[in-house]
Amino acid sequence: MPELPAFSTRLIAWQKCEGRHGLPWQQTRDPYRVWLSEIMLQQTQVTTVIPYYQRFLETFPDLVTLATAPIERVIEHWAGLGYYARARNLHRCAQQIVTVHGGNWPKNTEQLAELSGIGRSTAAAIAAFAFGQRAAILDGNVKRVLCRHFAIEEFPGKTAVDRKLWALAEELLPASEIEAYTQGLMDLGATLCTRSRPLCLRCPLAETCLARQQGRQGELPVAKPRATIPERRSTFVIISNGSQILLERRPPSGLWGGLLVLPEGDVDRVIARLGLQLESAQAIPAMRHAFTHFRLTLEPVLCRVSKNQCIAEAGMTWVDVDKAADAGVPTPIRKLLMRVANVKG
Ligand code: ADE
Repeated sequence: MPELPAFSTRLIAWQKCEGRHGLPWQQTRDPYRVWLSEIMLQQTQVTTVIPYYQRFLETFPDLVTLATAPIERVIEHWAGLGYYARARNLHRCAQQIVTVHGGNWPKNTEQLAELSGIGRSTAAAIAAFAFGQRAAILDGNVKRVLCRHFAIEEFPGKTAVDRKLWALAEELLPASEIEAYTQGLMDLGATLCTRSRPLCLRCPLAETCLARQQGRQGELPVAKPRATIPERRSTFVIISNGSQILLERRPPSGLWGGLLVLPEGDVDRVIARLGLQLESAQAIPAMRHAFTHFRLTLEPVLCRVSKNQCIAEAGMTWVDVDKAADAGVPTPIRKLLMRVANVKG
């Protein structure tokens, strides 16, 4: 079997035949225009960017015009593109180039990446497209391509994985034709190696793609691991005098702030705090409830106190057993009370 051409060779050949060529910012090497397009394309799709890019250039045709314009005018031209920090950084960056670099664009990625709003990947894209510099890009789309092709088994947001991906991106760079290669990576990620339903049959890298060989395109890149949700347990005391249940109002802040709930905490302490005489106590099956940031196991204890015990402490209310579930209590407490009402009924 003849050996396959390198990753970059196949990508460059594909970009030349099948990639995107008519985009407005591809008709120039002017760093101002390349930079503007890369910033606009950071979080926004090509079709949305095109009219904004053209309108922006009509009003701000060059760096000095932009650097000396009031920020309000710049924001006006950004209205609708979103992520307005980009517009503020764009304006600041134009001013930095005028004041720090005498109006001349730095040509290497390190210096470009020091400017406002330009990260490492955007710096590399500008260096490649405007100055033909051999520099590696690594935006979200490129990460997806690399994670699939090399079957990277960990979440790419992790620092160690990010470092590994940058090293890979550098290793894969071709000796020449950096523009077609860089554009090829972007085009592949945007048009074939899409997040869902990638079009592997048309991919120039399919033969060496590990995700494809393993049929794991849907699993890679690995999704962000879900944070482990803390588990809590707590006792809830269902105090019954035979026909009524005791509820107490929570303080205004915290979990269930301001709502009526069952007293929470150790049975003996709750009973003592309320000055009641316990007749009997019986644990009933626990219930789990998921909150956004933790899971709670409610351990209910059904306590009988004598009928004539009627406390009038602030925030305490005796409620009829069959009405307690509807007394404006939070859901897990309501579920517990419904169980008790059913047992009674
Ligand atoms: N996304 C980021 N940069 C791009 C570019 N130059 N062309 C198309 N899509 C892009």
